[in-house]
Amino acid sequence: MPRTIAVFGAGYIGLVTAACLAELGHTVVVRDIQPERVQRLQAGEVPIFEPGLAEMIARNTERLSFTLDAATALAAAEVAYVCVDTPPTVSGDADLSRVWSVVDSLRGAPALLAVVVKSTVPVGTGRRIRTVLNESGLEHVAYASNPEFTAEGRAVADFMTPDRIVIGGSDQDVIRLVADLHHGINAPIEVMDVASAEMTKLAANAALMTRISFINEIAALCELTGADVELVSKAIGLDHRIGAHFLQAGIGWGGSCFPKDSEALKQLASNTGYHPQLLNAAIEVNNLQKRRAIQTLKQALGSLEGTEIALLGMTFKPSTDDMRESPSTVLAARLLAEGARVRCWDPLAPQELPEPWSQTTRHPRALDALDGADAVILATAWPELRELPWHEAHDLMRRPVMFDGRNLLDPAKMRALGFTYMSVGRP
Ligand code: UGA
Repeated sequence: MPRTIAVFGAGYIGLVTAACLAELGHTVVVRDIQPERVQRLQAGEVPIFEPGLAEMIARNTERLSFTLDAATALAAAEVAYVCVDTPPTVSGDADLSRVWSVVDSLRGAPALLAVVVKSTVPVGTGRRIRTVLNESGLEHVAYASNPEFTAEGRAVADFMTPDRIVIGGSDQDVIRLVADLHHGINAPIEVMDVASAEMTKLAANAALMTRISFINEIAALCELTGADVELVSKAIGLDHRIGAHFLQAGIGWGGSCFPKDSEALKQLASNTGYHPQLLNAAIEVNNLQKRRAIQTLKQALGSLEGTEIALLGMTFKPSTDDMRESPSTVLAARLLAEGARVRCWDPLAPQELPEPWSQTTRHPRALDALDGADAVILATAWPELRELPWHEAHDLMRRPVMFDGRNLLDPAKMRALGFTYMSVGRP
């Protein structure tokens, strides 16, 4: 049965959720507090890049609208989906202020049957929201947790063809309601209590991060012993108990989710008196990974003082324009601190970026960034970088030194072209 849904938050998660729910036949009103964002959406513009999203929004305009006003969004809403962001506070805990302000706005919603939280929240948040709903005269409104597992750059596909749908709720009616909203999607539905659903989200991300740090640690050992992490990773991934995904060695994870969720889980553990050793180690390996890259380059060049370094790829991964917690930001800052000049290229990263990016120069073509450079770092696995005419780049560079932070290129080929080629965990 098609429902009327208010989606709170028009960020990566909210917009994808809203577009996909509209695609599934529901009527969706998206509410955001940023006037410029809402105006652009009302004018048919999509303010973020996510493959397939603009097309999906365009084909569902009849069932999809955008507003700044919570009351308008809630006027006919049977379900309120909370998709606002939960950035870290100064203490590293998740900042739930945006979640609370949505919950506050629900009072008096005439048709509301359920509040569903998709935002990533600490375990126990659902219980607190339930109490606040009861105190606001919304005892009749059910509560569910429906965490998201979509990755940026493939979020629409992940939503429509997920590995599983997780629904946490305390009664069968709300679970059936949320399950029915996904009618048309063929995936196992994992039903559980609210706290377990909240933990599932954090645990899934922690498992993925741990795998990346694990393979990066193996990569460091490969470097010390002469083994090749790419061969090791492929071979261990073929063991069905291990699996092939998230075993790509490189300069580590970034993005809007892993850094914040690892910190939030760590604080959640600490707040309960538990010392999360494995999680701490995964975070530490990830932090070190970027500094090791600079150290490797420094050893190759002698000193970075006064050098020109091309930094190719800025976003935290390809197919996104998202720069949040991108490893490249740490690389740029470290290079500048070592006295290097940094020349960047990225096909999608925004032009306006916070520090340290204003101290770098941006080039529209990768070859322009490479012209006269003393070394190049590949920081994002953009397919364009695989296709670059590296023989031409070699001739343009002052010194053909490369650190391939994503193991994107073939070491033998790059050396044959005359590059001093270094990567992560490969001899
Ligand atoms: C991640 C999860 O993959 C999603 O399932 C989850 O829903 C999402 O966080 C979230 O919590 O919202 P995302 O951050 O978009 O998605 O990106 P990933 O594809 O997971 O990549 C994260 C980082 O890990 C990137 O910087 C990527 O380059 C790095 N990575 C990934 C590696 O270094 N090695 C790998 O093998 C895989």
